[in-house]
Amino acid sequence: MDLQGKISLVTGGSRGIGRACCFALAGEGCGVAVNYQHNKDAAEDVVAELKNNGVEARAFQADISDEEQTNVMIEQIMNEFDRVDIVVNNAGITRDRSFLKMTRDQWHSVLLVNLDGPFNVISALLPQMCERKWGRIINISSIVAQMGNFGQANYAVAKGGMIAFTKSLAREVAKKGVTVNAVAPGFIETDMTAAVPEEALDMVRKMTPMGRLGRPEEVGRAVRFLAAQEASFITGQVININGGMYM
Ligand code: NAI
Repeated sequence: MDLQGKISLVTGGSRGIGRACCFALAGEGCGVAVNYQHNKDAAEDVVAELKNNGVEARAFQADISDEEQTNVMIEQIMNEFDRVDIVVNNAGITRDRSFLKMTRDQWHSVLLVNLDGPFNVISALLPQMCERKWGRIINISSIVAQMGNFGQANYAVAKGGMIAFTKSLAREVAKKGVTVNAVAPGFIETDMTAAVPEEALDMVRKMTPMGRLGRPEEVGRAVRFLAAQEASFITGQVININGGMYM
């Protein structure tokens, strides 16, 4: 129970990797604010299960790409929990298209959710983390930031930006007791990859030494480790969780 008494916020926590992060953190006794955008029922299911596991939990609606909605959500979380010690910037979208066909809107919408979203969340929470001299920021990047991917120039830019952001912010707040790290998952079995054509997933399996896609829990465990007291001297790092696809 390494995180007993701590409170976390997981953006996009109602399904997939975000959901797995909620349960991984709860496994260490950490309270969880589950952010969701549209699917209230799924978020409430996660909250009910977290409470069954004996931790404090509540769902909070917000489109994290919207600064005002994010600030309102943070205020609600403060009223409920009084603090956020751990932030998992998980919410993300794809709008895949080869670059020749990519519209400006597809480019911007991915940057807006995947980069401005974490900006909105972190800028609202960082001052109090620095004040308390303890904080953990964990950004969910992607293998696509490291390898590139056909049809994902917008997503690669956003996820690469997230790694650059992680390293810069880690330097700025290291002396204030706040660590900033990223995880870079390979292809993980979630709704996001369910939209990828089966032939493309077969290719991914062939390119992955372990010969399979990852599971959300396998990402959640790395996030839990980075959040834990045990990871106190780790900052500015990117942990790859990809079955060996990128080394
Ligand atoms: P998913 O599509 O199942 O989950 C994404 C979550 O983010 C959803 O709950 C969605 O509602 C939420 N979300 C999207 N836009 C939002 C917004 N504006 N405000 C609040 N919430 C919003 O996908 P998955 O796979 O669980 O992805 C989670 C994160 O992991 C994403 O950042 C994704 O880019 C990243 N990732 C996923 C990989 C995969 O293979 N599944 C690989 C590498 C990274």
